Amino acid sequence: MELMGNQEMVEISKLIYKYWLAYFDHISNRKNVNMYEASKKVFLQTACEWTGVPLKENESDKRASQLSNLFENAASVGLKHWKSRRERIKAEKWIEELVHDIRNGNFNLDKDKALYKFSWFHDIDGKLLGEKVVAVEILNLLRPMTAVSVWVANIGLAMYQFPEEAKKLQNGEEKKIMMFLQETRRYYPFFPFTVAKVKKDFEYNGFKFKKGTITLLDLYGTNKHPEDWSNPQQFIPERFEHWEQTPFNFIPQGGGSYDFGHRCAGEFVTMAMLKATMDFLIKHITYDIPEQSFDFNFNDIPAVPNDGFIINNVRFI
Ligand code: HEM
Repeated sequence: MELMGNQEMVEISKLIYKYWLAYFDHISNRKNVNMYEASKKVFLQTACEWTGVPLKENESDKRASQLSNLFENAASVGLKHWKSRRERIKAEKWIEELVHDIRNGNFNLDKDKALYKFSWFHDIDGKLLGEKVVAVEILNLLRPMTAVSVWVANIGLAMYQFPEEAKKLQNGEEKKIMMFLQETRRYYPFFPFTVAKVKKDFEYNGFKFKKGTITLLDLYGTNKHPEDWSNPQQFIPERFEHWEQTPFNFIPQGGGSYDFGHRCAGEFVTMAMLKATMDFLIKHITYDIPEQSFDFNFNDIPAVPNDGFIINNVRFI
């Protein structure tokens, strides 16, 4: 959580801008741009620079596809699942080698970067973490930051399904953008539930939980619960204008406290990345949204519109 302060959010927002500018600088304005695929690359570049992981320009497509495999196919069965496991091993190797080089003095890195901090972190027994542990923790930043692209595709879907709400964003008012983003995260779940196994017998609200029971936390249902949300099945960004958050009423990225509960450590990062992307789309370019398929398969986790939100005729303002 030490890495998730205001200063870091400003840095991440600047990096998002930098990499979107670079991305569109190289694209012909006639080309169709699949914003889901594009944001995977831009977000991975941002994540790598922020954490201190070196990434060459010609390596970024390959790595973005490798890390996407970890969240696109992890919940699949069969071949896709095995591919995801293989890619995970390769990604871990990539970072483990960097940790090895840092510890052997072959690679110098800014001391504020996550890769440096994790590589030199000592546990409570005063021992350095294993190289693999550091790699997994760094990938716990790179992978979900790349996965924020799913919500970029869903922002496109929201703009398509609710054009009246999208129009309200045109003057780039920060409050309106934030409300639209929150409603997107509420309305289109990244995943519908999370899974946990009961560690020891306990009772909660009259329900008995036996050790070993597999339980689901219903993210989708909680974010649409009629006791907390009026007209939950409607897309109404304004609902976030006078809204009181509790640790458990809005849980698109888990619930409870950031430090001690099961709430995503990267929720502020997610919002900073999406906000900077929306700012860029609204204030820095103009574009058209051509005919495309915004259908998606409800069985997919995460569910992403088939065409991934395509834009074209992109021009800098
Ligand atoms: C893409 C959207 C995201 C979703 C849907 C999501 C969801 C979640 C959920 C549900 C948890 C809690 C798991 C549990 O304890 O049961 C979690 C934990 C975590 N998330 Fe995210 N997350 C997202 C983005 C991010 C981002 C952008 C980052 C990094 C900057 C991040 C970093 C983490 C970390 C490090 C944890 C583990 C915290 C811990 O175990 O103490 N996540 N996330």
